Amino acid sequence: MTPHAPSSLDYGLPTEDQRAEQVALLAHAFGIPSSTDTMWIDAIGHEELRVVHEGGEIWGGLGLIPMGQSFGGRVLPLMGVAGVGVRSDRLRRGVATTLMRHVLQETRERGFPLSGLYASTWSLYRRVGYECAGARYLATLTPPEIGTWAARDEGSLRLCQATVDDRPAVEALYHAQALHHPGHLQRGRYIWPRLRDLRFGIPAHGVVVHDEEGLAGYLYYRKHPPQGSFRHRVEVTDACARSPAAWRRLWGFLADLGTMVERIELPTAPHDPMYLCHPDPRFRMEQLESWLVRVTDVEGLLRGRGYGPGVAGSVDLHLHDEVLPQQAGDWRLEVEGGQGRLRRGGAGTLRLSARGLAAWATGFCSLPVLAQLGHAHGPGDAMARADAMTAGPSPWMREMF
Ligand SMILES: CC(C)(COP(=O)(O)OP(=O)(O)OC[C@H]1O[C@@H](n2cnc3c(N)ncnc32)[C@H](O)[C@@H]1OP(=O)(O)O)[C@@H](O)C(=O)NCCC(=O)NCCS
Repeated sequence: MTPHAPSSLDYGLPTEDQRAEQVALLAHAFGIPSSTDTMWIDAIGHEELRVVHEGGEIWGGLGLIPMGQSFGGRVLPLMGVAGVGVRSDRLRRGVATTLMRHVLQETRERGFPLSGLYASTWSLYRRVGYECAGARYLATLTPPEIGTWAARDEGSLRLCQATVDDRPAVEALYHAQALHHPGHLQRGRYIWPRLRDLRFGIPAHGVVVHDEEGLAGYLYYRKHPPQGSFRHRVEVTDACARSPAAWRRLWGFLADLGTMVERIELPTAPHDPMYLCHPDPRFRMEQLESWLVRVTDVEGLLRGRGYGPGVAGSVDLHLHDEVLPQQAGDWRLEVEGGQGRLRRGGAGTLRLSARGLAAWATGFCSLPVLAQLGHAHGPGDAMARADAMTAGPSPWMREMF
């Protein structure tokens, strides 16, 4: 059969019949049973599935996940992308590239300034303007490595099993803390069940810690059956606290859980308060993977993200963007009182590619580094001013999507 040009592919929501095809395609692309993929599709919700098809026959598909992401103390709408898969007999014809171009247009039209994903193949996403914007890390430790420092008793703190009734307070605590961590997600109906419910047949458990003011911390985890040993593995899926005492109590809980535990896996970061509050965190930490973002609405992003209240100034940008030409061209960014204003015009002093914009505007990469990579060009003083505007802790998150 002669391959069709990918530009002739139609894009949209799958029909009920195409949905079954998409499940089969995903199961094959990801090498997992189609029952698991059905679960994934149910979690995404039918209305957020997208396919490209030719005469009704699906060539590729994915799922969209509307969420938010914190930058500069504010939450911006983020459209997550997951489950990108292309039919095995249609690979390397630009199908995924075509699909992603459609997704970026739709994301912009729906008012989302950012698209984000974890990539199996960076080159695929980079060619349509995604760039690295943060990372996930995993600490691996044995229970004795927690040490005797962790607390069993913290005065007035009370630790008990988490119930469904705790969920609103858990979500409120997480979202309040997430504002202080660039890159943290504003989670929705897709993410929370992955952290707190049954997944791949393994239930999650949780504990909550209360003080006089209410919920002070929580921790969710799954116990994975032993493999080749009688001890099992604990996967921490989420943890959050607002005081050192609450963090110590959660560490104490993890230590006490450990009599039958071979190892604990903790998604963290070098600047995660859970990691930093440990007096001697000498356990192994590896960078697991980075996530990528694509700016789909430069105005929405630079007006919507927060800036340091002490930073004031302006910078003229020129954005080069072939995939979303609507946002290409000259812009002037003015920042004052923690707020950014963007308007058309200016001298185009600082020239950015779409990838450069993604890495700089999220605060992940400085402009001189992006200049070394060919994604930013301009005088040093303009770069220094622009970098001061977006500077902050390196973006990270605990979860994957
Ligand atoms: C990854 C996948 C979606 C790519 O689909 P595709 O339609 O073949 O991709 P495209 O033809 O648009 O390729 C675009 C670019 O991506 C990169 N790419 C695609 N497939 C690749 C592969 N197998 N190995 C290395 N690079 C690859 C190349 O840079 C390619 O450009 P080129 O062909 O000019 O070299 C497809 O291989 C797939 O379904 N894989 C299994 C599931 C998966 O990995 N999904 C992605 C999860 S984020």
